[in-house]
Amino acid sequence: MLPSTRDRRHSDEADRPGRSISASMRVVAAVMFLVSAPSAGAETWRDLLQGYRAEAAGTPGFTEFSAARGRQLFADSHGRDWRCSSCHTDDPRAMGRHEVTGKSIQPLAPIANAARFTSPRKVEKWFRRNCRDVLGRECTAREKGDLISYLTSLGGERQ
Ligand code: HEC
Repeated sequence: MLPSTRDRRHSDEADRPGRSISASMRVVAAVMFLVSAPSAGAETWRDLLQGYRAEAAGTPGFTEFSAARGRQLFADSHGRDWRCSSCHTDDPRAMGRHEVTGKSIQPLAPIANAARFTSPRKVEKWFRRNCRDVLGRECTAREKGDLISYLTSLGGERQ
């Protein structure tokens, strides 16, 4: 009973090429979904930036992210004990060192560390934690976009 049903389906598909075209379209759609799904964990910093841009678009006066603002945010003390650079150093392309634990931290700039900004969950977790520590509050979408713009603007040469 079962084998003959399967056989019939097989020959049906062979006789009607339209069926297999729509089947391959489904495969294409599934692949596109996997590639775009955040849970796939393979986003690029451009995808992340686009998400923050959509969020920041509601902020009055927002036009575009600024690497210069991001750089300042990264280097500033914000009137508190820590700066981003306290642990990630003044040059985010360099190895960092945790101010408290002394543990080394891989470079933050994608040019020096391709794994950076590829996992939205990881990025959000650390933005939340580190912005609270450094600014005393969470960063806004605009600030996160500014920071990523700064970090991705860094090339191979020291500036
Ligand atoms: C007290 C030390 C410390 C300070 C200060 C700090 N960070 Fe970090 N940061 C870490 C550690 C530890 C990690 C996680 C380890 C790792 O990813 O290498 C991390 C990870 C990150 C990540 C994850 C990126 C990714 O894709 O992997 C981002 C983004 C980040 N920090 C941004 C910032 C920004 C922006 C500031 C300033 C507002 C800041 N950090 C200040 C220690 C610090």
